[in-house]
Amino acid sequence: MPEIDEFKNAAACFSTGVCVCIVEKEPDEFVGITINSFASLSLNPCLIMFSVKKQSRFYTVFLGKKHFTINILSKEQKETALHFAKHAGSQLVDSQLVLEKGNQVPFLKECCANMHCELFETHEGGDHTIIIGLVTQVRSGGLAPLVYFSRGFHSIS
Ligand SMILES: Cc1cc2nc3c(=O)[nH]c(=O)nc-3n(C[C@H](O)[C@H](O)[C@H](O)COP(=O)(O)O)c2cc1C
Repeated sequence: MPEIDEFKNAAACFSTGVCVCIVEKEPDEFVGITINSFASLSLNPCLIMFSVKKQSRFYTVFLGKKHFTINILSKEQKETALHFAKHAGSQLVDSQLVLEKGNQVPFLKECCANMHCELFETHEGGDHTIIIGLVTQVRSGGLAPLVYFSRGFHSIS
């Protein structure tokens, strides 16, 4: 087994996008967490996956809910990524959100893409839990993504 820091250094060589996952904590109170463990998983059905740290304050809120949104951040949303990384479960205000017809949980504005999901399955993954979501609605635009690489935020033109 490698030392944890060796493992983290190797994993930091993998570049990813950055998302905010939003869930309804209380009726009409939405909270978000920054994640970069997102991946698309299956086309038929349309599934996505990501992992949540079991020690996160967000953990029990998230696993108790059937609906969530995945919001893929654009290159201008570094501050948004930092905000929802520091304050798990930070409340979202209406002006940051857009609730589309038929959605249980709103989308975050000004993202590259948004997905509305239903909780499909969960799996144990060491100190994280792997969440699999069935995608029920998508929306995407032409914005450039925010990229996370080597413990820093970057953009591509
Ligand atoms: C770029 C980035 C990616 C992250 N990805 C994940 C992730 O995939 N899963 C996760 O549980 N936490 C992830 N985090 C950490 C959470 O955002 C952070 O632990 C949480 O918001 C802090 O709240 P906590 O004190 O309750 O853990 C990430 C943080 C950053 C900055």
